[in-house]
Amino acid sequence: MSTQPKLIAAGRVVTCDPGRATPQEPLGAIEQGAVLIEGSCLAQVGLAADLLRQHPEAARIEHPDGTLTPGLVDAHTHAAWVGSRAREYAMRMAGAGYEQIAQAGGGIVASMRAVRAASLDEMVRTLVARLRRMAALGVTAVEVKSGYGLDEATERRQLEAVARAGEDASLPRLVPTFLGLHALPPEAAGDRHGYARRCAEWIEGIARDGLARFADAYVDRGAFSAAQARIVLARARELGLGVRLHAGQFADVGAFELAAELGAASVDHCEHLSEAAALQLGEAGVRAALLPVASFTLGQAPPPVETLRRAGVRLVVASDANPGTAPTESLPLALALGVRSYGLSVAEALLGATREAAASLGLPTGVLRPGAPADLVLWDLPEESAIVQPWGVPRVRLVMREGRAIAQAS
Ligand code: NIG
Ligand code: FE
Repeated sequence: MSTQPKLIAAGRVVTCDPGRATPQEPLGAIEQGAVLIEGSCLAQVGLAADLLRQHPEAARIEHPDGTLTPGLVDAHTHAAWVGSRAREYAMRMAGAGYEQIAQAGGGIVASMRAVRAASLDEMVRTLVARLRRMAALGVTAVEVKSGYGLDEATERRQLEAVARAGEDASLPRLVPTFLGLHALPPEAAGDRHGYARRCAEWIEGIARDGLARFADAYVDRGAFSAAQARIVLARARELGLGVRLHAGQFADVGAFELAAELGAASVDHCEHLSEAAALQLGEAGVRAALLPVASFTLGQAPPPVETLRRAGVRLVVASDANPGTAPTESLPLALALGVRSYGLSVAEALLGATREAAASLGLPTGVLRPGAPADLVLWDLPEESAIVQPWGVPRVRLVMREGRAIAQAS
């Protein structure tokens, strides 16, 4: 294997490094900047002129009209699904609500049926193809939830598919999350409490076998209560897993309080969030993951972004990729909607899909600084504000994970 260092120079290098941030450059951008990659890590970040002079031995990639950023980190996805719910989307656009769709056999349980019927190989194949498309959009790390199995064997099979895909270094790095409390399977016959207790048992083996790094629960009106989620998430904590929550998508039913109590890594959705809950999150250092594609699909009003800002809550932006409420694989689309519909600044959106997303997942990526893994994107775009426009097509020149290309423009 070649040990030749690589030097990438770009018109703008957007480091997202807090150590470089100034009021003028909140993203720590360097005009005519460059990075030097040695092995899988960044060795130097600085002015292109300096690095080019200091490292004549390095292999060079120069894009004076391009922008270099950390690789995008998608911190909330349900990417391990199979099957399609496109008809459900059409029903929703024609005015059908959540309940009506569920009665017509749609919703999470429809995906559960498809996933239960799929073999491990089929799941891996579908996931790998999806991850390649995500990489082509600039994504170098993806959190993937289970939650379409809803029985022990199938929840495990989904997580095994994530583990198998995670072995492939030519794909984004993966962070697996157990989401048993996503919906109630039909065989539970309405017993949410009993189902939560079973999930808390399954999680023992899942944690023992290293199949998940986080546990998540969908706490909402029409979903699970905070008390039911506590049964699973408190056990997850004892087993050394981190905690994330689907919280306040339709109503605040106590998920934010639970998140603060358990020291959750993030609360996701947050359309229905009070000032008091925001303050609690801010104090507990819980990040809010905003999912603008889901609220766009559901025709919802944005979350109270200004309240979150005032409470000092750090913001993450994610795709929520799923076959129902966020039928997309595109984190850049989520960023575009985050800016347009939620009023996020370009800096908030980009940090939410790089540094803040990585921090919420416990990853060392999301920042261009010496010592960090060389997970990065060279965009065919002149500046970072161009990244958050709704292109609808990939605008990357090169995507690298640990110093190796995982996608490039043809
Ligand atoms: O994040 N809110 C619950 N879960 C998903 C929807 C998943 C699905 O519809 O399959 C979400 O929006
Ligand atoms: Fe979700």
